[in-house]
Amino acid sequence: GRHLLGLEGMTAAQIEPFLDLAASYALLSRSRTPPRDALRGRTLINLFFEDSTRTRTSFELAGKRLGADVINMTVATSSVNKGETLLDTAATLNAMRCDLLVVRHAQSGAPALLSRKVEASVVNAGDGMHEHPTQALLDAMTIRRHLGTLRGLTVAICGDVGHSRVARSNIHLLTAMGSKVRLVGPPTLVPAAMASLGNVEVFHDMEAGLRDVDVIMTLRLQRERMGAGLVPSAREFFRFYGVDRRRLVLAKPNALVMHPGPMNRGVEIASDVADSTQSVIQEQVEMGVAVRMAVLDRLSRMRVPA
Ligand code: CP
Repeated sequence: GRHLLGLEGMTAAQIEPFLDLAASYALLSRSRTPPRDALRGRTLINLFFEDSTRTRTSFELAGKRLGADVINMTVATSSVNKGETLLDTAATLNAMRCDLLVVRHAQSGAPALLSRKVEASVVNAGDGMHEHPTQALLDAMTIRRHLGTLRGLTVAICGDVGHSRVARSNIHLLTAMGSKVRLVGPPTLVPAAMASLGNVEVFHDMEAGLRDVDVIMTLRLQRERMGAGLVPSAREFFRFYGVDRRRLVLAKPNALVMHPGPMNRGVEIASDVADSTQSVIQEQVEMGVAVRMAVLDRLSRMRVPA
């Protein structure tokens, strides 16, 4: 459709065109010759109700590299602070005839709600604990560049899986593309019931979970989504679930180490592992721009001109 709200239910055939177009944009970005006219005359508004470094900046760059007019609405200094509701804010932006609305919100389902109220194409840039589809697409692209395919790979998603929209989008994408997914972490953060998400295995033992995997994805502790008293101590977490050298060797030789960011060194990942030759964390960021160019381009082509 004309929105990208999540990856749940999408097939490999629906996901692959985004990855293929993103791959061509990654090449063009490296040669510094992106087509500046794909979004010429279009307006993109970044509407971020939660903090972001990577996602907001890369949507801005992606829009500008394709020739769009890009507006960053800083929610912290907007009239949201004066009590304007999400839907009234959306109606206001709609009246300005924006074509693409990129939304991050603490509430799961907020982008889907907006998509029913505005004429713009809505892109979910992360909603609560629900989905972060462009993150999973950029992760998939990074894996494909190194390992050639997603089919048949074993991917361990480690740490605070339960609170993670990144994990949910990755579970949907990776299982659709034929990867095996392991969810690895303590029972408080990776409830055994998560196995019912389909085609995933739950491990509470880090050593067992990492054995012979092709890819290790690490996630930060999302303290903002934990109730008081449920936050594990950083030191204890690192001791039992941190990805350090000793644990890295349990995975396949040259297994990829990934992190969506922001990372907390010495909590979910050891600093030397984050900076090791197996780490593709900076490449994930680079692919983020290419993936967002592909998403904006494809969605804007699916829009019927007013
Ligand atoms: N990975 C990610 O979404 O990072 P930001 O929160 O910095 O956008």
